Amino acid sequence: MSLPFDTVGVAGAGAMGRGIAQMCVQAGSTVKLYDTQAAAASRARDEICSQWDRMVDKGRLDAAAAAANKERLQLVDGLAGFAGCGLVIEAIVERLDVKKTFFAEVERIVQPQAVLATNTSSLSVTAIAAGLQRPQQVAGYHFFNPVPLMKVVEVVAGLKTDPAVADALMRYTRAMGHTPVRAQDTPGFIVNHAGRAYGTEALRIVGEGVADFATVDRILKDQVGFKLGPFELLDLTGLDVSHPVMESIYHQYFEEPRYRPSVIAAQRAAGGVIGRKAGEGFYRYVDGKAQVPA
Ligand code: NAI
Repeated sequence: MSLPFDTVGVAGAGAMGRGIAQMCVQAGSTVKLYDTQAAAASRARDEICSQWDRMVDKGRLDAAAAAANKERLQLVDGLAGFAGCGLVIEAIVERLDVKKTFFAEVERIVQPQAVLATNTSSLSVTAIAAGLQRPQQVAGYHFFNPVPLMKVVEVVAGLKTDPAVADALMRYTRAMGHTPVRAQDTPGFIVNHAGRAYGTEALRIVGEGVADFATVDRILKDQVGFKLGPFELLDLTGLDVSHPVMESIYHQYFEEPRYRPSVIAAQRAAGGVIGRKAGEGFYRYVDGKAQVPA
């Protein structure tokens, strides 16, 4: 089966864009990676390339394939670099106005048949597409962190999305070796809706003094079999990302009490105690290892 997209533009070279770029190259596409901070893009390329080197060392990738991958991962210094892309995926900031402006600019650069995909985890795909010239080309394409390891990818059709666009993203996800799942455009889609209570109820349990966060994590792993406890997961994602998602889903469901965010998370997000990326969240991170603060 032929690859649906030969050349893919990825905007945003943070935690998500970096993983998405890696998977697109591994699927066989040429990737144009762009970040407003050039240093972030080159850091991302170095990290992806060293992942491929490690795969070669472990015998999971041959050296020629790694060299070919590196050639197909190309940095661009502006949106004009996306001109020949059949698919552009954005993994930039989680703000409706920023994403709308981004796609309005990209739409003027790419061919009319190019697919415009957003990795939003909480915004409405329909709202992102509204006002564009070609809203039928826009779909949600929701990966999970860390992208190479998390196999599920939600393909989200907005109200105006052409079904052929969603079909192409389904096929492309399979070419990456990941597992696509179709979701309608509703707050949180499937995973962040079904999994909402994992974080919010855990925060409530701690807020009510039932148990401390490390105990909640331990019990949910040992007794229930989750790979990560809710607080480990919040630390991995970062409260800078997950607290606004909690707020957004709560508001989009018209202040539905079940989804009410937590004051504990709000305070920590405001204080920068956001998780692994800050070196401190619920746990403190020393040499990448989680420690329970005294
Ligand atoms: P991040 O903060 O690690 O990276 C974002 C990158 O985008 C930064 O390097 C920034 O310089 C760059 N950027 C900002 N505006 C830009 C623009 N206009 N053009 C090009 N680059 C731009 O963020 P992260 O965690 O990678 O998230 C990105 C998106 O993915 C957000 O929409 C987020 O909600 C979504 N997402 C995040 C998940 C997570 O667990 N971190 C999971 C699923 C989706």
